[in-house]
Amino acid sequence: MNIAIVGSGYVGLVTGVCLSQIGHKVTCVDVDQEKIKKLRLGKVPIFEPGLEELLKKNLKNKRLSFTTSIREATRKSTAIFIAVGTPSKKNGDADLTYVENVARQIAVNMDGYKLIIEKSTVPAETGKRVARTIKMNLPKKFEKNKKSELDFDVASNPEFLREGSAVHDFMNPDRVVIGVESKKAEKLFREIYKPLNPHMVVTNINSAELIKHASNSFLATKISFINSISQICDKLGADILKVAEGMGFDKRIGRAFLNAGVGYGGSCFPKDVDAFVRISEKSGYDFRLLDEVRKINEEQKASFVRLIEDKLWIVKNKVIGVLGLAFKPDTDDMRSAPSIDIINALQQEGAKIKAYDPVAVPNAKKILKKVTYCKDPYDAAKGCDCLVLLTEWDEFKKLNFKKIGSAMKQPILFDGRNLYHDKNLGDLGFEYYGVGRGVKAGS
Ligand code: UDX
Ligand code: UDX
Repeated sequence: MNIAIVGSGYVGLVTGVCLSQIGHKVTCVDVDQEKIKKLRLGKVPIFEPGLEELLKKNLKNKRLSFTTSIREATRKSTAIFIAVGTPSKKNGDADLTYVENVARQIAVNMDGYKLIIEKSTVPAETGKRVARTIKMNLPKKFEKNKKSELDFDVASNPEFLREGSAVHDFMNPDRVVIGVESKKAEKLFREIYKPLNPHMVVTNINSAELIKHASNSFLATKISFINSISQICDKLGADILKVAEGMGFDKRIGRAFLNAGVGYGGSCFPKDVDAFVRISEKSGYDFRLLDEVRKINEEQKASFVRLIEDKLWIVKNKVIGVLGLAFKPDTDDMRSAPSIDIINALQQEGAKIKAYDPVAVPNAKKILKKVTYCKDPYDAAKGCDCLVLLTEWDEFKKLNFKKIGSAMKQPILFDGRNLYHDKNLGDLGFEYYGVGRGVKAGS
């Protein structure tokens, strides 16, 4: 099928590249001319394992192309995915300015039937508003034949891919959710996803929109729940890893997303939880549970900082080495990364920060000030009063701790992701602190 993707960010680009890989002819659009230039040359502007290879392959076989023209993409395509950003406003609402703008531009350029699909995460009822915007902006000739409502469908097809494993997640979906209001739209979706043979959940647009917010909020709740338990573990001398293991074997609970740490970050959970609280509020329901979920997430970062401050005693002028800046491994994404709040808090207390991340440094430089960026973990450890691990990159698992320890001024390690829980760092002379491992600040 001829498909357009408007917005070539994390979600749009992965969707476009993967749809071309499974056999469709895809045109990806973006307003950012530099980005489009790079993409045409086969260069992926983000770090996402496996993506560049598929991009190059499908550029070559001409199933994939890039443009800045919504007109060109609309004219060529039957299905058009909207995957532009939906940032948070100050009050937590999703800002849908880009979505509205794109819907209008698609409408004015329509020349026949189109299936217009929301891929960005949007509040319930956005589908209706997109349909209305399109109807109001259709070219005159469609208005005249009074059948304009037959000429397009709006649908919702939320994305569940995780950064760092986005290509794999797209190609192996747990489910594909489609919110449709017509048989024609459903048929087109079935055609689009046929090569993946996924389990399809077919519902109306409002329910599909809700599934996305409900899923992300549930996962964020699971993380805040286990982080709360980690606090109790520290106070009672219990071990969060064993608690999570013991809980996780219960099939009704499951072990996934029960990793305690320094809190969730990224472009989705913080924004989507905020947006869902607002959506609920507007619908007349006070979603108090989610309010707590985000408070617990903030508190988790603050409590980690308190632990560091307590064990270091005096933070002012101490040199702190940070391993990992991205909000999670296998991505260069710094959006709402816990490292930002933690580093800012330590800097406020007068700490000097050295940091290393395998790929996120260029993005980190735009956000974090007065940080000395290092060439590798050993460089980050050199002369440090303590090391703080914030992202559990694979390469950090294989460090030579003898070398790390002897490079440091004093061998204290704060493990914000419990990556080294089985390394017996104590035997190598380290003072070692994890999250929820039974050590409380002040003890
Ligand atoms: C998207 C969705 O916006 C978000 O709601 C969802 O939760 C995750 O997926 P993401 O792909 O991560 O977010 O956003 P980003 O990487 O910022 O990409 C958006 C792209 O759209 C950018 O390349 C931007 O240049 C482009 N864009 C934006 C347009 O092409 N046109 C516009 O009018 C606005
Ligand atoms: C998330 C959803 O998983 C995905 O379905 C949706 O489409 C977009 O949002 P992503 O943000 O890429 O994906 O990453 P994810 O792996 O879900 O992790 C989000 C955050 O939660 C990270 O900061 C991660 O470190 C944290 N996390 C995750 C934990 O703290 N503990 C866990 O057990 C799992």
